[in-house]
Amino acid sequence: MEGKNLNRKTYYITTPIYYPSGKLHIGHSYTTVAADVMARYKRLQGYDVMFLTGTDEHGQKIERIAKEKGVSPKEYVDGIVDGIKKLWKLMKITNDKFIRTTDDYHVKAVQKIFKKLYDQGDIYKGEYEGWYCTPCESFWTETQLKDGKCPDCGRDVELTREEAYFFRLSKYQDRLLKYYEENPDFIQPASRRNEMINNFIKPGLEDLCVSRTSFKWGIPVTFDEKHVIYVWIDALSNYITALGYLSDNDEDFRRYWPADVHLVGKEIVRFHTIIWPCMLMALGLPLPKQVFGHGWLILEGGKMSKSKGNVVDPAVLVEKYGLDAIRYFLLREVPFGSDGVFSNEALINRINSDLANDLGNLVSRTAAMIKKYFDGIIPEERQSDDIDNDLIQTVINTPAAVEKLLDQLQFSTALQEIWKAVSRTNKYIDETTPWILARDEKNRPRLAQVLFNLAESIRIVSILIQPFMPDTPQKIWEQFGITEEIRTWESAKTWGLYKSAGAVEEGEPLFPRIDLEKEMAELERMNNNTAKSAENLKDIPGILPQVLIDDFAKLDLRVAKVISCEKVKKSEKLLKLELDIGIETRQVVSGIAKYYKPEDLIGKKVVMIANLKPAKLMGIESQGMILAASNEDKLVLVTVDGDIPAGSKIS
Ligand code: MSP
Repeated sequence: MEGKNLNRKTYYITTPIYYPSGKLHIGHSYTTVAADVMARYKRLQGYDVMFLTGTDEHGQKIERIAKEKGVSPKEYVDGIVDGIKKLWKLMKITNDKFIRTTDDYHVKAVQKIFKKLYDQGDIYKGEYEGWYCTPCESFWTETQLKDGKCPDCGRDVELTREEAYFFRLSKYQDRLLKYYEENPDFIQPASRRNEMINNFIKPGLEDLCVSRTSFKWGIPVTFDEKHVIYVWIDALSNYITALGYLSDNDEDFRRYWPADVHLVGKEIVRFHTIIWPCMLMALGLPLPKQVFGHGWLILEGGKMSKSKGNVVDPAVLVEKYGLDAIRYFLLREVPFGSDGVFSNEALINRINSDLANDLGNLVSRTAAMIKKYFDGIIPEERQSDDIDNDLIQTVINTPAAVEKLLDQLQFSTALQEIWKAVSRTNKYIDETTPWILARDEKNRPRLAQVLFNLAESIRIVSILIQPFMPDTPQKIWEQFGITEEIRTWESAKTWGLYKSAGAVEEGEPLFPRIDLEKEMAELERMNNNTAKSAENLKDIPGILPQVLIDDFAKLDLRVAKVISCEKVKKSEKLLKLELDIGIETRQVVSGIAKYYKPEDLIGKKVVMIANLKPAKLMGIESQGMILAASNEDKLVLVTVDGDIPAGSKIS
């Protein structure tokens, strides 16, 4: 990375910090690849760039996952964060910093931010009122409840008051609106701005609850340690703590803040354009220049491992098709800001048409012709023709158009502009028919000019694709002997700089063509295999601490035969079963309605805990519990296979 030159203009770009809650799919790479393109582009333009990404590691959800896996939250996140860092390396993401919200300097700075806001009266202590589901440890608002019950488990909830700290969001409402008005580009695309104003600000901002006492995995409030700081306050602060805000060395903060752009997915625009600016106003800091909310990449068929013929693991995609093709596709296929579908078929079609056919063929045909007709060196004696002008005009106008579009984060249209130049150049080959010129010795100066023009177009295109494609430009430069002075960003704006010094090497095709049908069949096969192995490995929780045999002996496990079974009214999850356990019958309510039809269970022999204290679910008594094996999205009842009567003990 270039050293600091204090006279250079700065450009600070961020991605959201990622939840380390599972495996990243290609959709997650979307924001980061887009930010990387901007960072590379601005560096090429000569800016002093600060590109930040990282991980958002606190919160109840992480605490819960870690507990299920039987490890500490920190142990759990450490493993995942390593994977995220490896992925960014593979995708050649050139972030200058990587922040983890568990980093000590971040924790300290967030605590100082909280204290500062408290001391100045922007944070105050109050009471949070909500409906609490004890088994789920979750608070719900009145409207979130389902038929007055916990929307997650269907059990009774209690009206509870919890002491909590609040941030005076309401106080900043008018200033926020004014900021929006005075800075019309603050939220992009504009439609998201109207959504924020009409749906959130106009109805009135309420003070925000910014501390929790119901779980531990968060940054403690220094002056009231039973409270942890609300994850969004913790997470949003990363954009300034990463630069050293409120630390001993805040040089980067002074140099790069305010951010030029926070790039975020559309679902978190709200946090970045309401809570975050209000926090900054309260801290007396300038607001970011722009928040860009991009759309979602819809992964066809929903979850990755199950969707047929659709591989969305970024590592697999990069391995199969190459990094440049994946990065190109992500930003070319869908206009940035809109939602779009990710499918392997669309990816392969793009690779074949835009990359193999248009760019790849242009490069290989030109190289082959320079080699064949001039043994690799285009002679100095050349002859122009009017027919060249249209090509030259199209290509030479491209850099300015690309810059304008990239400055608006319009990646797809910027790529379209570059590909217009590629297509125009391909058309030029058809117009000039070099293979016919080559038949006659007297046409050599004209043939030389035609091949020069082709090489020159390729030079300009190779410079412009750099932000998107980390590897391809270098390959082209080596092939055509394009030296450093004639591959600077600025040099793309001048026509005629190509020097045919070295031999043009023919090289491997840049983007081999893919047989769509064969590839789709292969992907489907792969998917079935990964789905199978994922099924075996997916989210297997860690082993709980050891128990003594006596502990186990306290459980009275019995074979129970299902006599009758029906759905519990008004519940989507619960079934009521009547079970024969030899000595008596029992009524058990079980949350298996999503997985079993009542009629399919009758006659089955299941396993029940017969000495579990009865509990009421949706007002119905459950006299025991039946056992089931489950993971995130599957549940299978434990049944007894073999001729053994109901009531038999299981030990
Ligand atoms: N931790 C919060 C961000 C805090 S920022 C102070 C978060 N993390 S996330 O891991 O859920 O998402 C990170 C980014 O990935 C978001 O911008 C999100 O929109 C993006 N994407 C996740 N899935 C996506 C798609 N399928 N398509 C496009 N982007 C999506 O939110």
